Amino acid sequence: METDHTVVERRLLDEALAPGAVALDAGCGRTTRLRDYRDRIVRLVGVDSDEAAGRENPYLDEFVPADLDERLPFADESFDLVYANFVVEHLRHPDRTFAEWRRVLRPSGRLVVLTTNRASPLMAASGRVPESVRLAIKRRGAGAAEGDVYPTAYLANTPARLAQTAASAGFEPVSVVFVATLHRYGARVPGAGGLLTAAERMLPAGRRSTIVAGYEPASLTSSS
Ligand SMILES: C[S@@+](CC[C@H](N)C(=O)[O-])C[C@H]1O[C@@H](n2cnc3c(N)ncnc32)[C@H](O)[C@@H]1O
Repeated sequence: METDHTVVERRLLDEALAPGAVALDAGCGRTTRLRDYRDRIVRLVGVDSDEAAGRENPYLDEFVPADLDERLPFADESFDLVYANFVVEHLRHPDRTFAEWRRVLRPSGRLVVLTTNRASPLMAASGRVPESVRLAIKRRGAGAAEGDVYPTAYLANTPARLAQTAASAGFEPVSVVFVATLHRYGARVPGAGGLLTAAERMLPAGRRSTIVAGYEPASLTSSS
């Protein structure tokens, strides 16, 4: 069972990024793991509605403040990679957002998404916990700063809904992997991480807490 989403992500990004790539980090926040691929990414653009966070991000060539739920200020086929790390769960119009990601991707491009799986009974249970308690768990358990906890909508956050959202926007899946990552929330509480991993081990794959997915424009596969 995979318990590290970054290992799966690395495989998808290795496949997605050829030398000379132009990449968009959608919902970039203050940092990006795409910093590890700057030997292949010649231009790295970040978008976020949190302008203060995006402007702090030191790894971007350009930060563009924008709402991912609206039309993006980029021409068609501008990017080789669109990457969204724990952003889909916040979207209010995921159909519109995925369609925009499709529009700005080149025909040979890739979309790589990491997001929460609400088909996980443990994640669904956390949705029934009051916001103040969830904030405390994220702060004390995972060490997140309060300002970095954003409101969630979970509109495309089951395997079926994510698949449908991607397909309607014109994407074909390259790889969709379900990873057990809840131990992160117990990282600072002795014993809690192990308990969360054990709980996730008992679940079928599609019910693990994190989805790591790679997509390509559908026209590529349908014409090949
Ligand atoms: C959980 S943080 C992840 C940040 C970053 N991707 C990372 O891995 O550190 C979610 C980010 O998505 C951004 N975000 C959420 N909804 C957005 C929207 N509709 N438009 C633009 N950015 C959005 C938030 O401002 C925040 O920076």
